Parts: sequence; structure tokens; C-alpha cells
Amino acid sequence: MPGPEWGAEPEGTISLAYGFADPEHFPVAEIVEATAEVLGEDVNGALNYGPTYAGLIRLVAQRLQARGVAHASAQNVLISYGSSQILALLPQIMIDPGDTVIVEAPCFIGAVRSFQEVGATIESVPVRENGMDIDALATMLVTLQQKGVRPKFIYVTPTYQNPTGTLMPLENRKRLLALAEQFGVLIFEDDAYGDLRFEGEAIPPIVALDTKGWVLHIGTFSKILAPGVRMAWACGPEAIIQRLAKFKVEGSSGPFMTRVVERFAADGRLESHISDLNATYRRKRDVMVEAIKEHFPADVRYIVPQGGFFVYCYLPTDMPTVAVIKHARDHKVSFLPGMGCYANGQGTHEIRLAFSYQNDANIIEGIRRLGAAMKAARA
Ligand SMILES: Cc1ncc(COP(=O)(O)O)c(C=O)c1O
Repeated sequence: MPGPEWGAEPEGTISLAYGFADPEHFPVAEIVEATAEVLGEDVNGALNYGPTYAGLIRLVAQRLQARGVAHASAQNVLISYGSSQILALLPQIMIDPGDTVIVEAPCFIGAVRSFQEVGATIESVPVRENGMDIDALATMLVTLQQKGVRPKFIYVTPTYQNPTGTLMPLENRKRLLALAEQFGVLIFEDDAYGDLRFEGEAIPPIVALDTKGWVLHIGTFSKILAPGVRMAWACGPEAIIQRLAKFKVEGSSGPFMTRVVERFAADGRLESHISDLNATYRRKRDVMVEAIKEHFPADVRYIVPQGGFFVYCYLPTDMPTVAVIKHARDHKVSFLPGMGCYANGQGTHEIRLAFSYQNDANIIEGIRRLGAAMKAARA
């Protein structure tokens, strides 16, 4: 496992840093079975040169339709090599150096890096307990318009956001879409954690509300099947999907893995696997929150997410994240510092904790160690 940015981790460190999938819950037997079925049926189709399997595109479109995306179809769904591929490609086809992109603060920094790589100017809108602050976004759009700047897109993760775990209410999604239409700015909706709902009513993705073609939506099999299959999708305006497809260097996503993923997912198997995962991740979230209550100083605030992979914490003023990092190293525990989640250097008193990867015992021990590190940092 890679070490954190501040150097290699000492032996025996419990990492709560990375949003890796739970290694004990990969559906190994089902993947083996699906692979055998695919190879048993059409070896040439699966193993020779060929396009992305149309059955997988259909399956993704159907799943999106089930979540209210009435316009999802084979024509506006693209399969990609992880959603990271679209996060890298969209800026390449849309951004010229100096163009403006709006992101959440904090947000998934991997996305921000790919926007910066093509020379985008990044504007950050704060994330509150309901996700991106829509009032702040409205003010920013007006200010930018007054300066003659029309942003290329608004990158947003409305459902179980990375890193805060926040969920944007339906009303805010509608306001966000109305702003996008009013100012003529595309919404780039990242729904990486959209299926990982532990409780509460499902809220439709923003793309489901979009009737005028202002939303490009991405989702991924990484969190609901396995990151290693590198299989994800984009759905949105056909013109953008076609341009993305043109720029996908290798063209298809491979006839073999697209067939295996489709076969695994068919006949309700994926949905039943997702239910199992949600029970597991919900339990792990609860284990982490209980451990936090027991071991963290009482003035550390945190968000209890209704889904996703992360618990986000806000540290008191006398406990800067850098001081906790130093003591966490001595206590053999690691986390993602808040500063690693902002494009603008904020987050000096914030940390992200992943409950997805470690088992229950390690989560409890990791939080115990981190609580001790926090107390030492304060002393
Ligand atoms: C918000 C968000 N988007 C995208 C990704 C990338 O996922 P993929 O494995 O599909 O490339 C991640 C991975 O952690 C993520 O947290």
C-alpha cells in the first residue's frame, strides 16, 4: 500500500488514508463464474480484437434509467477505463489554458489535478453540511460574469462527497441545475459513491433532472464491484459523449472485461452485491463513529455520512493537522490531511478518515491511536 505524502509509513501503521475497497468483500467466486461463462459462450468475441460489449452499455443505461435518468441510452453512455479516464479526458477536450473551472472545497483532489494539468484556473466553492454551498456558487457565478468569465464546468460530487461524505438535498440539486442553465455552464457530476447508500431515501442524481443537456454524469464500478476492473461510465449530451469517445486513445474498453462485468452484473447479481456491500460499509461506518466517540477529544467535530467511504473531521484551533500528522506517525496510524483535499491550501484543521478498507478491529485500533496522537499534539 502506498505511503502518505509525508513519507513512507513505519512498519505496522494502520492506514485510514485511502478510499480503497474492502478486500474481504470482492465477489471473487462470482467473477470467476462470470469469466467462465463468457469464455464458454464466445471465445472469439471475448478474446479477439473488438469493441466495447454493447450489452454492458445497455446495462449501464438501464441502471441509470432505474435511477430516474430517462434519457440514458446506448447513444449517450460511454464506457471508460475508470472514471479517472473521463476526469482526465473532459478537460482535454474542453479546457484551454486559463479557462475557469469551478470545484468544491474540499473535493476529490485527483480531479482537480487533472483540470490543473491542462492549465485550468480553479475557483473553489465551500462545501457545507448539505454539500456545495449553492448561495456561494450563485455569488461566484455573478462575480465571474461581471468579469466576463464563463466557467467551462462546475465539478460536483453531490452524493456522499469525497472527502466530506455530505449529501446534497434535492432542492439544492434543482437550484444548481437552474444556475447552470441560467449561466450556460456545464455541470460535471461525479457520482462515484452514488450506489453506496446506507440509509435515507435515494435522491436522484442531477443528470436525472436535466432535460436540456447541461449535465455530464460519471459513475464507476470501482466502488460497487472492484477498482481493479477499471470500468466506469459517462452519460450526458451526445455531442460531448461522441467527442470523449473520439479522444479515448484505445477506442473500446476491451471486449473481454466489458463482457465479464456485464455477465457479473446481470440478473440482479450486482444489485444484490451492492446490498451486501452497503450492510458491510454501514457497519464499518458505525464502528468508526463509535470509536471516535470513545477515543477522540470531545471538541473534534465530524460528519456522520449516510453513505460512501469517509468520515470527515474538523479539529479545534489548537490542534493543527500538521501537529497531528507528526504524532500519528509515532502512534503508527495515518489519514488524509485536509490540505490534500483543497485546491487552495485550506484544510489546515481537517482530516479525512476512510472506513472502507480496514477491518473492524483495525478501525477501532486506528482510531484509538489517532485519539492518542491528537491528545499528544495538543499537549
Ligand atoms: C469522487 C471520485 N471520483 C472518481 C474516482 C476515481 O474512480 P475510478 O476508479 O473510477 O477511476 C474516485 C476514486 O477514489 C473518487 O473518489
